[in-house]
Amino acid sequence: MFTYIKCGEDAYLCCTLFIYMPNELFEQLDFVENPLFESIISDLLEKQYSIVDGFFTLEEVSLLRHSLLAKYEADRFKKSAIGNRTNEEIIKEIRGDFILWIDESRIHENEAEQLFFKKINELVDYLNRTCFMGILQKEFHYAVYPTGTFYKRHLDTFQNDDRRKLSVVCYLNEDNWKKEFGEELTLYTEEAEIDLLPLPGRVVIFESQVLEHEVKVVKSSERLSITGWLKTR
Ligand code: OGA
Ligand code: MN
Repeated sequence: MFTYIKCGEDAYLCCTLFIYMPNELFEQLDFVENPLFESIISDLLEKQYSIVDGFFTLEEVSLLRHSLLAKYEADRFKKSAIGNRTNEEIIKEIRGDFILWIDESRIHENEAEQLFFKKINELVDYLNRTCFMGILQKEFHYAVYPTGTFYKRHLDTFQNDDRRKLSVVCYLNEDNWKKEFGEELTLYTEEAEIDLLPLPGRVVIFESQVLEHEVKVVKSSERLSITGWLKTR
């Protein structure tokens, strides 16, 4: 980056001070506190999970739901797996959802996925800037749980791989979703079992390596979501 400087040591120093330092300072001054993200951080510090209602507006949820359903109806979803297990009978007793991974490098033609990653990336940048979380990777998939399916109590980390730091679940159910449909997300904290309804626009974030959780049986209709993980490298 100093190839244009021909006047030796002094000019080099000059350059670091007046070009690079101000950039760094500017980055600091540029920082605007975000109350929503701050509340997520304090929730995570305090109780290892955070529930954010309205993280996505109902309009955004509707766009995302249409994107999900178009791909689901085009038969692009696959039966979910568990770690490296392939025995379908065993898997069926543990989880029954169908998933489709979202490739962030191929979202330019999908308005819904663009707005999704814009918001998620804002959160990731904020976490990295304020908490030095070192999130360098993400993975997100659409999920559909048909009637009668569930995901038994589990942790979101794999053996020999602890890169998943935060689990992020975004619910895309219809506006008229009813709690009689069941399908709660239950978080098992040290103190209690917390049942969370998969309300449209709600996002639940929790520590992947710590919090065991479960998706209760879907009693009616289909349960729609995007689930993902913020990971260190
Ligand atoms: C998962 C999961 C929770 C939910 O996909 O690992 O636990 O509420 N999802 O969908
Ligand atoms: Mn999980």
